[in-house]
Amino acid sequence: DAPRRWALRGDLLDFTAAPAWGDAESPAVRFDRDHWLLIEDGRIVGRQAAEPDESWARDDHAGRLVLPGFIDTHVHCPQLEVIASYGSELLDWLERYTFPAEAAFADPARSRAGAEVFLDALLASGTTSAVVFPTVHKVSAEALFEGAAARGMRLVTGKVLMDRHAPDGLRDDVEQAERDCVDLIDRFHGQGGPYQRLAYAVTVRFAPTSTPAQLAMAGALCRADASLYMQTHVAENRAEVDWVARLFPEARSYLDVYERVGLVHERAVLAHGIWLDDADRRLLAARGAQVAHCPSSNLFLGSGLFDWPGAGFNVSLASDVGGGTSLSLPRNLLDAYKIQALRGARLTAWVALHAATRGAAGALRLGGEIGGLSAGQAADICVWDWARGPVAQARDAVARELHERVFAWMTLADERNLAACYVAGRRRV
Ligand code: GUN
Ligand code: ZN
Repeated sequence: DAPRRWALRGDLLDFTAAPAWGDAESPAVRFDRDHWLLIEDGRIVGRQAAEPDESWARDDHAGRLVLPGFIDTHVHCPQLEVIASYGSELLDWLERYTFPAEAAFADPARSRAGAEVFLDALLASGTTSAVVFPTVHKVSAEALFEGAAARGMRLVTGKVLMDRHAPDGLRDDVEQAERDCVDLIDRFHGQGGPYQRLAYAVTVRFAPTSTPAQLAMAGALCRADASLYMQTHVAENRAEVDWVARLFPEARSYLDVYERVGLVHERAVLAHGIWLDDADRRLLAARGAQVAHCPSSNLFLGSGLFDWPGAGFNVSLASDVGGGTSLSLPRNLLDAYKIQALRGARLTAWVALHAATRGAAGALRLGGEIGGLSAGQAADICVWDWARGPVAQARDAVARELHERVFAWMTLADERNLAACYVAGRRRV
């Protein structure tokens, strides 16, 4: 068990504002080399240069990088086993690999075991909060909620809605789906005790797999309770966008399919958003919704190059495993850097790391709780080795200023750099 009062020593890095694009010396960066973070009852209560007195237990990580736990805003629990599946684009990949893997989660034991492995893998990657897709099966959402509660994690999830264009065993219907959503919301959304860090997301897989009646039901759930999240996919792949245009000829755009039923709101997390137009971008900004940018998935499935600097709306970072190739957000941030390089832009380590921490927290309306190392926030903290192995160590040794050093860390680090991970003040890795 964690001591009630303890202090963590290391090089503390977090953000006090959103860093500007291209600014390597951003005033939004707060870096306190060799400081102590003070933690009481699972929350951060202060930070100081001086060693705390004897009344504080201590974890000494001098010479290591201390960051807020990462927030992965779009990832699929049942797809761990289809990560790294060869040779296709989105729609074919769903049919060949993803739907068969998800069908297995009808079995409650498989759902529970899958949730355990998945949540432990998130923590081992330095991700302490996530917005997660389970499967269409109610039990798969229950298993994630229970597993996250057991680990004290901040988790947003909800049973996947899909009542057409999916194989047998993976479809629901409007009435049963609504009953399942209402029951899960009653049990896991906005509750206290062990469930206090959980929240429900109305989870529309994507427009093609829901009938207009099911989309309307999902929108009605959101309108009835503004504290609910919504998660879905939008404008990921060109063949997908064409299909949506054929299925919903009355809609102005793919995003407009969701807008018409009230699914685009400030707690909406829409994955990908590559093939949006300017009207879509303005709508996302006006609604305060966020796009979960999924760089490793977008490269792996050949989906396209996301226009991050031109977004104008909230952008968070996501692994999208199993479309993505790593749960590690540093691996995904490197892919984000490469995508912008291909587009002629340069992603600083500050914009990148902010999106994976404070930016995501703010977009989720959880900025007071997660995403930073300030007094009052939950002690969701990861400690990283600055460099592992001779190549990274040689690079780290010659870094002259902070951005250079942190950018090299982001580019070369993965889950093997993780030295410790704390969730609400308790060590989990
Ligand atoms: N669109 C609809 N379902 C999925 C999914 O499981 N993964 C990705 N990347 N895109 C989707
Ligand atoms: Zn996805």
